[in-house]
Amino acid sequence: EDKTMADKIRVLLTEEEVEKRINEVAEIINRDYQGKEIHLICILKGGVFFTCELAKRLTAPVSMDFMSVSSYGAGTVSSGVVRIIKDLDEPLEGKNVLIVEDIIDSGRTLAYLIEVLKQRGPADIRLCTLLDKPERRVKKQVKVDYTCFTIPDEFVVGYGLDYDQKYRNLPYIGVVEQEG
Ligand code: PRP
Ligand code: MN
Ligand code: MG
Repeated sequence: EDKTMADKIRVLLTEEEVEKRINEVAEIINRDYQGKEIHLICILKGGVFFTCELAKRLTAPVSMDFMSVSSYGAGTVSSGVVRIIKDLDEPLEGKNVLIVEDIIDSGRTLAYLIEVLKQRGPADIRLCTLLDKPERRVKKQVKVDYTCFTIPDEFVVGYGLDYDQKYRNLPYIGVVEQEG
């Protein structure tokens, strides 16, 4: 296989559709958190674009922290092993934590993370995701509080999502079409 060849990408959700939906979800979050502060936790790397777009639309006082975990490595299939590559900088005691992810797939990453973060004494932990692929869920206990889009079981890229570390920068959500 020629690794230099560009993959074919079919648009699943346009930039306009994604932004319209982020506006709607941000409004719901703004209503839910009235009079409260939000401690946003961006799960790197995939969560970075969605976190920024969401954060800009929040009206509550927001603090932000970043955690980097990886379960996928280079492939398109989850290894099932979650590694913390970079931990949070700030403690979570008493905070209203809102975890922001690009996608919940098997749920392994979030099942692990929520267990770890609960131990740090936050007032509340909620989960917000751009995409949810419920068909693929292995960890059924993962409860998503805010979902922008529920999608079928296809390998998606863009808006933070990668294929072999590429395509995170696409401003829309696309599906990688395998050749042949
Ligand atoms: C991807 C994605 C989620 C996770 C979802 O991250 O960004 O964090 O996998 O899969 P799961 O529900 O099956 O655990 P990845 O491990 O590829 O790291 P990345 O965000 O740096 O691309
Ligand atoms: Mn990720
Ligand atoms: Mg990835």
